[in-house]
Amino acid sequence: MESLKYDIDEIVITPRKLERRVNDLAAEMATGLQSDNLVVIGVLRGSFIFLADMVRWFYMNDMHPRIDFMIMESYAGTVSQGEPAVSRDFTVDVAGADVVLVDDILDTGRTLTKATAHVVAKGAKTVRTCVLLDKPSRRLVPCEADYKGFVIEDFFVVGYGLDYNGRHRELPHIAKVRFADGAQNDDASA
Ligand code: IMP
Ligand code: MG
Repeated sequence: MESLKYDIDEIVITPRKLERRVNDLAAEMATGLQSDNLVVIGVLRGSFIFLADMVRWFYMNDMHPRIDFMIMESYAGTVSQGEPAVSRDFTVDVAGADVVLVDDILDTGRTLTKATAHVVAKGAKTVRTCVLLDKPSRRLVPCEADYKGFVIEDFFVVGYGLDYNGRHRELPHIAKVRFADGAQNDDASA
């Protein structure tokens, strides 16, 4: 879909805050997640920077997971297209493993719910979920992440892996997308 006119000049979370929180999250997991069969699965594409930063803190906390990725898609612009689908599956064997599913943001809850069921169906012993951002006010299916970086309000964000129409993932911070006509989220589909 064609993008609306928008600005991304408002920084919501700075690189420094991201770094500190990701470090804390990894330390939190290290205390609750002792496993000699740990698998980290990133939900692409949004989680790639978060996951890459986090697993380096795993190393510092003596956690040594196998790492793989899956691609799930459902969004066009800022609008969820409904049921997310696995468009590229992971290949690591998760049977009997303790899995941490990592996503960029928990919004309606559909993606993480579907991804969790997918990993359970493949025989994981346990599945924990970890998201950088949580927008609880947008939830459509009941879903709570076991580990979350920041709770944010209902506005669309980009950066640190998150995109708007495929762009702005490279920003080192999280920025708010401000639409020219004030539209956001579902209003932005017009
Ligand atoms: P859910 O299935 O609605 O929970 O959506 C989760 C997915 O929606 C995330 O993995 C993102 O790809 C996308 N998403 C939701 N909110 C935002 C946002 O504010 N910025 C960028 N992507 C978002
Ligand atoms: Mg995503």
